[in-house]
Amino acid sequence: MISIWQTGIVTALIESTDDKEIPYRIIFLRHFRPPKDIKYHYRNVVNKYDYFYKEVHQGYIPILMKCLDLKAEHVVADVGSGTGAIAKDLFELSGLHNPIWCVDPSVEMQEVARQKKGVYPVVKTAEEFFSNPQISERFDRVLATMSAHHFVNPDAVYKGILCSLRPGGFYVQLTGTLKSSLPLFKGVKNLMSQCFERGKEISSPLLKEIGVNSNISHQEFSFSAAVTKSKLYEKYRCRFLSVLQHLSDDEIEEGIRELENEYYHNVKDDELINYECTVLVTRAEKVA
Ligand SMILES: C[S@@+](CC[C@H](N)C(=O)[O-])C[C@H]1O[C@@H](n2cnc3c(N)ncnc32)[C@H](O)[C@@H]1O
Repeated sequence: MISIWQTGIVTALIESTDDKEIPYRIIFLRHFRPPKDIKYHYRNVVNKYDYFYKEVHQGYIPILMKCLDLKAEHVVADVGSGTGAIAKDLFELSGLHNPIWCVDPSVEMQEVARQKKGVYPVVKTAEEFFSNPQISERFDRVLATMSAHHFVNPDAVYKGILCSLRPGGFYVQLTGTLKSSLPLFKGVKNLMSQCFERGKEISSPLLKEIGVNSNISHQEFSFSAAVTKSKLYEKYRCRFLSVLQHLSDDEIEEGIRELENEYYHNVKDDELINYECTVLVTRAEKVA
């Protein structure tokens, strides 16, 4: 019989033997990097979060405005709302009468969100918030921007979101894609594709299976953005993306060296790098 033995430092694959003196032998031993807590990640980036995401948020807002088609009287929830930067802009641009319900489990992100106009923070996970039957048919719009990959139980969350919508209301989910002209270093590419795949899980058959009637559409949108080389490297070093917590400091430095050697050796630190970014928007409309 083979079993896995794990501590915070090492993982070992252990095989039992017939030998009474040595009942077990270790057949594989490696350093184990414990999975990091997602709340720990956001606690670490919170102070620089709005600065790190400024240029992409500017790209997301026109796309979200188009896809959400907000009316002043709409009641809106933002799931995995982070620092509330997106909710604030949507609130101001669409002249909403009510603040946006910003659902996010990170206390630190919510402390920043609380300072912003048009934000009503709810410190809960999507799982906790959308399992409450009292929010049934409460919202006209629910959005999730770059947060669906964190849903621990996506089927239950999608079902809860659809139940929380009024008939004719819709859920808009924005996720990243690997279609960006900003080169990624090798170590991060695979991690990012896994993360974006998770955000794509919502589909009509899935929602039908869980008893929700909806029309689903998927559409890609592109926008232009720019970042200085020094900010790009700072973003990596501070692990601006949660997937980067799976890389050690050395692996990140190696990735930065790779980018420097292959693409940016002639770019000055304060020079802007222009790039195109493509996101995927999934829209699920609740059918009456
Ligand atoms: C990449 S950030 C996106 C924040 C914001 N939507 C934006 O685009 O700037 C992901 C957010 O999802 C939140 N999150 C993590 N797990 C969650 C869950 N189970 N339910 C809801 N939000 C979650 C994190 O705390 C974090 O603020």
